Amino acid sequence: MTGSAAGRVPRHLAIVMDGNGRWAKQRRRPRSFGHRAGQKAVRQAVEFCLGKGIGSLTLFAFSSENWQRPPAEVRALMELFVRALEREVDQLHQNGVRIRFIGNLDAFEPALREGMLKAMAHTRGNTALNMNVAVNYGGRWDIAQAAQMAVHAVARGEIAAEAIDEAWLGQHLCLADQPPLDLFIRTGGEHRVSNFLLWQLAYAELYFTDTLWPDVDQAVLADALADYAGRERRFGRTGAQVTRSLKDTHA
Ligand code: IPE
Ligand code: IPE
Ligand code: MG
Repeated sequence: MTGSAAGRVPRHLAIVMDGNGRWAKQRRRPRSFGHRAGQKAVRQAVEFCLGKGIGSLTLFAFSSENWQRPPAEVRALMELFVRALEREVDQLHQNGVRIRFIGNLDAFEPALREGMLKAMAHTRGNTALNMNVAVNYGGRWDIAQAAQMAVHAVARGEIAAEAIDEAWLGQHLCLADQPPLDLFIRTGGEHRVSNFLLWQLAYAELYFTDTLWPDVDQAVLADALADYAGRERRFGRTGAQVTRSLKDTHA
């Protein structure tokens, strides 16, 4: 798993879709206008991943902290999610996209939660792309819920406490069945993780762009992939070791 990423596309791409509010502000429009505009960029990202053969795309749509925003903005976002479910799922299904919502879904209105569960069930057989949408998601929550499962498993006598290790916890996180996270992109100019995939980020390559999310198109994503392709991923080893093991692979 070591080596240069040259010529390779990420198997799993995660994006913090940031900058909708500022995009709207630049246009003297309400923040919700920016969120609506961001949907076009989501379609671009999905098409991009389908075209490049990227297996998994994980999008941060609503963090566990975003409930603290003004109630009107939270309401606008929830309405947008409902409408997006109604409008986009069929097209995604036709394109072979498997949709999954990750995060604590219990906090959502029953109608919205039902819509999410239905979309997941409807597309579960698709294999062209795993599209994971993180809603009411937090990386700390993800780790905590895996820890809770561990406690229950131990209490039921299914596993010894000593056997709860990184591998066990890793297998009980939201995206355990998907390829390791290769590339993390944050748009909108901020250089932070904001409680996204904390565990999964351990060895991901990080890429930041100032482009605000509604302005993101396939060219912006292609730049990120080109940058990724030039990275040497060492996973703790030395550059010389990585070069040698690459030579061996290609020998
Ligand atoms: C990201 O854009 C979308 C969500 C967090 C829902 P923001 O709404 O954070 O936009 P900025 O960062 O204020 O520009
Ligand atoms: C992170 O963006 C969450 C999403 C993009 C959904 P925020 O805009 O909420 O993050 P902070 O507040 O700048 O850290
Ligand atoms: Mg933001």
